[in-house]
Order: sequence, then C-alpha cells, then structure tokens
Amino acid sequence: MDEFASLQRTIERLLGIKCSNYKEDYIKRRLLSRMRLTNAADFEAYHRYLLANPQERELLRNALTINVTKFFRDPEVFEVLRREILPDLARRRDSIRIWCAGCATGEEPYSIAILVHELLALRKDISVTIYATDIDTVVLQKAIAGVYDAKTLENVDEKRIRKHFISRDDGTFEVLPHIKSLVRFREHDLMSGEPVARYLDIVTCRNVTIYFTEKQKDDLTQLFYSALASGGYYVMGKTEYLGREVEHLFVPYNSAQKIFRKAA
Ligand SMILES: C[S@@+](CC[C@H](N)C(=O)[O-])C[C@H]1O[C@@H](n2cnc3c(N)ncnc32)[C@H](O)[C@@H]1O
Repeated sequence: MDEFASLQRTIERLLGIKCSNYKEDYIKRRLLSRMRLTNAADFEAYHRYLLANPQERELLRNALTINVTKFFRDPEVFEVLRREILPDLARRRDSIRIWCAGCATGEEPYSIAILVHELLALRKDISVTIYATDIDTVVLQKAIAGVYDAKTLENVDEKRIRKHFISRDDGTFEVLPHIKSLVRFREHDLMSGEPVARYLDIVTCRNVTIYFTEKQKDDLTQLFYSALASGGYYVMGKTEYLGREVEHLFVPYNSAQKIFRKAA
C-alpha cells in the first residue's frame, strides 16, 4: 500500500473521516497545508507525526472539514426566506420543518431561527422545527454552546442583536434560549444516504458540496428531493449548482439566490 493510502486509513480510523468520500485532490491539498505547518517532508513523515501527536488530530479534522461561516451569510438569501418563503409556508402549513445540512458552528440555523421567531410572533398557531446537522462533532459543540465573537455577527442588525443575544464580559455574544430552543443539532454524515427527517419544507445545504465529487453531489440532490415535501424549497450555496443528471428534480425559484423548488 502506498503512503498516501496508508495515511488515509489512519485518518479514517482516528478521525472517523472517510477520505474516499472526497476528491483526492481536495484531501491532498488539505493534507499538504497541515504538512507545511508541521514541517513534515512527505506523507510518510506526516503519518508518523499524526500518530505521535494526538493534538494534531483535531487540527487535521478542522483542515479537512473547513467550517467557515457567519450569521446571515449572503444576506439576500435570508431576505427571500423572510419575505417570501416563510410566509408562503405559514399560509399553507401548520407545522414547518427545516433542515440546515452542513451547519458548521451554527450561525446559519440560528439566522433562520431568528427569522422563524419573527414569523412566530405573528403566527402563534404554527410550529416550526429546525434540524441542523454536521459531520464534525467539534463544530456542533460550538453550535450548541451558541457563543460568537462580534465579527461573526457583522450582518446582524443592532435590534436583532439586542433581542436575541446576551453580550458577555469577554466581548462575545451568546444566543438566547428562545432562539436556541428552535434548533435541534445532530451529528449526521451527508454521505450516509439517509435524511435527518422527511416531509421537510426547506433544506439548506450551502457551501458544503464544493468538497464532493459530481456523483456524490447528484446522490445528495436525490436525497434532498426524497426528503422534501411536495413544493419544498432547496437552498444551495451561491457558487453551487445542480448537476445535469438531477436538475429535472427541481425547478428554479430564485436563480440568483440559488433557491429551487421540488418539481411535481
Ligand atoms: C463551509 S461550512 C458551511 C457552513 C454553512 N452552511 C454556511 O454556508 O455558512 C461546511 C460544513 O460542511 C461540513 N461537512 C463536510 N462534509 C460533510 C458531510 N459529509 N456531512 C455533513 N457535513 C459535512 C463541514 O464539517 C463544515 O462544517
């Protein structure tokens, strides 16, 4: 077995991340960045370093599952959710189910929860569940804690900050319980082929599939299609697109914001 393959097996064993699920090029790029930082000359040297230094495991995990995010990332998308999609669902359903897939440290599902809270102030008769999942348990712990620095909050207006966060002595902000309670965080691998729930009204999966092969992206689109209720909405990341093989499953709702609806 070559050194790269042997390193991948160790990564799977130690971190539970299946490298074969990702493009080889992507895995190599992320590994090379860790190798530079640890002065490892080649895969064999890095492999030895990884085995000998338990603290490197988390650093490698972070590098492999980059989880950069912020509140109301691409604010226009959230405006469409607030002005059009949530009111449309509230008119048609008494219970709304949302899945935020690949939620990283929680900023995206909490942004949606803020909009949902504003909707619920007007419509007390409906119930809303937001499932938020990620493969990375470290980011999920941060998401559950719900503590953020000011930079992550730069797209949140003052009024919402006052209403939904408590500012702490160390300059960070914690999401208040009325928002936290709207979100159910769960560990989930999008490559598992199983949805976190069914009869969903909205699936957001943004800036996650850029790491997947075309086949994996198509499989994921199929999964979201089957998990969505009729007329359900699928929100992709700004730079993501539907593959040719699966584009018939959805109809564009707002092409600029990469929002689609389940085809009949
Ligand atoms: C860049 S973040 C996206 C966060 C958020 N959706 C946003 O757009 O701001 C990508 C997230 O996808 C997660 N991820 C990568 N592969 C995954 C998989 N197979 N299953 C679930 N989550 C995955 C990573 O752990 C990371 O937290």
